[in-house]
Amino acid sequence: MMKEPVYIIEETLLRRNLQLIADVAKEADVEIILAFKAFALWKTFPIFREYINSTTASSLSEARLALEEFGAKAHTYSPAYTDEEIDDIVRCSSHLTFNSLSQYERFNDRVEGKASIGLRVNPEYSEVGTMLYNPCAPGTRFGVTADKLPETLPANIEGFHCHCHCESGADVLERTLVHIEEKFSKWFPQLKWLNLGGGHLMTRKDYDVPHLINILKGLHERYPWLKIILEPGSAFAWQTGPLVSHVVDIVEDKGIRTAILDVSFTCHMPDCLEMPYMPEVRGAEIVEESSSLQSQTSEYVYRLGGNSCLSGDFMSSWRFDHELKVGEEVIFEDMIHYTTVKTCMFNGISHPALAMLHKDGKLEILRHFGYEDYRNRMD
Ligand SMILES: Cc1ncc(COP(=O)(O)O)c(C=O)c1O
Repeated sequence: MMKEPVYIIEETLLRRNLQLIADVAKEADVEIILAFKAFALWKTFPIFREYINSTTASSLSEARLALEEFGAKAHTYSPAYTDEEIDDIVRCSSHLTFNSLSQYERFNDRVEGKASIGLRVNPEYSEVGTMLYNPCAPGTRFGVTADKLPETLPANIEGFHCHCHCESGADVLERTLVHIEEKFSKWFPQLKWLNLGGGHLMTRKDYDVPHLINILKGLHERYPWLKIILEPGSAFAWQTGPLVSHVVDIVEDKGIRTAILDVSFTCHMPDCLEMPYMPEVRGAEIVEESSSLQSQTSEYVYRLGGNSCLSGDFMSSWRFDHELKVGEEVIFEDMIHYTTVKTCMFNGISHPALAMLHKDGKLEILRHFGYEDYRNRMD
């Protein structure tokens, strides 16, 4: 195994997710597209192309990646387009959704005839408990509420876009749709498509896939002229591989033992601190914060610490079945979605390599990072 840290995407696991997603799309007669914000390792796109035809972008760079590397124009949504970027974004987009009526008024004449125009709507209902991820919280900057829409939409608006899920089940979609339809279905006869956003975690083990298919079929029955689009990100890369790190030192203070690693939570696994959520570590068991310090020091219980100078760059605690030694691997499971797209080079810390474990067991290094990557971001 390599001595540098590495994110490893496993082809077999990726294909399993892609197959499930392609099956849902076919059975429910919807289009399911990849949200780049969660995953954009473009060297894997040829595999994606065997299963899906399109992607969703939230910026000019993501839209260019869609056209230039995925090979198809993007369904683009950004909270705000700029005068400098809008024409390039349109060139790379098949669909373009405006976040507000003022953005629509400013730019729609530069999009009309070149991409299908949509408007993001806010159903004022979301079951996402973590405010950082709730797009419908009061004061949200996302989408237009029903009371602000004119009875008759401008003729060139062809779709509504609505995103209000996060790692959600089919039951959440069912309850959310009641609100979406109650508030917005009166405009559906004027539309061609409805994009139900991301957050549909259909590849999670306990996700009720048949229920999702039934919900989508029901939508088709009620509005047969509407093309339904889902744009999950996490679901594609869910549990497709780990981040492999190594122990660099062991320190102890006030009875708390920390294994310092050659990776960082804030640089390489930011959602752990943001959400926050506790990642699984291979071969270790998560220990509740409330366990007594005494038992933590007498067992092989460790806080895992990042190699940045941010004091909070650690997480507690995991119980291992042996004493951790400098140089040994610590493997964080499920570290592919929302990691490689979000990493930073804070402190100049070495960025983990990117690798793909192929079906035949061969590990292909997609990318190493070095000093030049750090320096070139700031030249
Ligand atoms: C507009 C939009 N679409 C799609 C997604 C992808 O969501 P997920 O990765 O949770 O499926 C997000 C995530 O924030 C989003 O904001």
